Amino acid sequence: MNKIKIMVVFGTRPEAIKMMPVIKAIQQKPSEFQAITVVTAQHREMLDQVLHSFNIKPNYDFNIMHQGQSLGDITTEVLEKLSDTIQKTQPDIILVHGDTTTTFAASIAAFYQKKVLGHVEAGLRTWDKYSPYPEEINRQLTDVLSDLYFAPTEESKKNLLLESHSPKQIYVTGNTAIDALKETVNSNYHHETLDKIDPEHRIILVTMHRRENQGQRMYQVFQAMKDVLLKRPDVEIIYPVHLSPAVQKAAHEIFDNTKRVHLIDPLDVIDFHNLSARSYFIMTDSGGIQEEAPSMGKPVLVLRDTTERPEGLKAGTLKLVGTDYDKVKTEMLNLLDNTAAYQQMAQASNPYGDGKAAQRILAAIKGYFIKTTD
Ligand code: UD1
Ligand code: UDP
Repeated sequence: MNKIKIMVVFGTRPEAIKMMPVIKAIQQKPSEFQAITVVTAQHREMLDQVLHSFNIKPNYDFNIMHQGQSLGDITTEVLEKLSDTIQKTQPDIILVHGDTTTTFAASIAAFYQKKVLGHVEAGLRTWDKYSPYPEEINRQLTDVLSDLYFAPTEESKKNLLLESHSPKQIYVTGNTAIDALKETVNSNYHHETLDKIDPEHRIILVTMHRRENQGQRMYQVFQAMKDVLLKRPDVEIIYPVHLSPAVQKAAHEIFDNTKRVHLIDPLDVIDFHNLSARSYFIMTDSGGIQEEAPSMGKPVLVLRDTTERPEGLKAGTLKLVGTDYDKVKTEMLNLLDNTAAYQQMAQASNPYGDGKAAQRILAAIKGYFIKTTD
């Protein structure tokens, strides 16, 4: 069998973090596989942080990001540019990750060129068209178009079966987020923001960026956080603010000049994982952070109405809190003041695999091509 040419396409920070283990695994088997790494650069600085941390040099970089980009802009630019690159390089298989607009547009491009499509992190669902928006529909459409499904858990496999995808095409691999985590957390970690914080104080690590939360919801959540901080003088917030202008505006309007709130630039992934490990708890609407926190035993208040990560809820580490001012305040105070409630959520458990997801993905791809070339 010839080397299998695998095109790995991604565009944003979380896709880069979770595709990195797949790229590294391909590079470790040069006699069997060849990687063609394509970044759309739907994100620029936040993507480059990951590429730099893991020393990944893409073969193609479309550099599409611009301020105020619409979903239509991202879709059309990726579709057009990726179609040309697929024609030029003729990969055997194209891998996409998760649920961004890069993911969906790359999947359509693969389909138009009749290429085999593999979906890493397939099968996550809320079954709610607008929550998260547009991710729920991006991932459903990607799964309509895929040939190989790399489902992180049995739960995500069940979702794919409910949509009548063949069990022969579904591989339960674990989540590559856990593969990535193994490379980053370090017990001798140091960060300048930590030097500014009294070691006796408790740190809440915050991120928030989802499109459906921008505007009123984000403002009321931030106000609740600020009001809780006024009541609890031993608590500090570290908030690496997403570069989206809507998020920057809300965060700075509410938190500028607030004592014990540290607004900082997005962290590189090594810093973020290590600060997570040192936090008291996390508040976020991120998807990826909901996967990482359970294995660190860090309670997470999820600032969303739905989650496609029910495994973390079952494990007890995540709590769906939404964005209502009173609810957010109550849940924060409960975690800060009620030790039993805190301890119950702080049990480390990892429903997302053993850190060998990338190896399983490559084994499945190899098996697929052996079968189809027989
Ligand atoms: C995107 C994904 C979302 C994912 C998130 C991860 C879509 C529709 N959304 O959302 O699923 O959870 O990434 O963070 O695919 N910006 C910069 N520099 C950067 C990154 C972003 O300046 O490195 C600014 C730009 O002004 C850009 C804006 O943020 O236009 C929004 O970026 P975009 O990728 O459209 O949306 P995200 O909210 O980041
Ligand atoms: N992350 C990071 N720096 C930060 C915030 C988050 O490296 O300042 C990492 C985090 O560890 C996780 C991923 O980014 O692996 C999550 O990305 P994001 O929340 O932007 O997107 P989502 O997962 O919601 O799609």
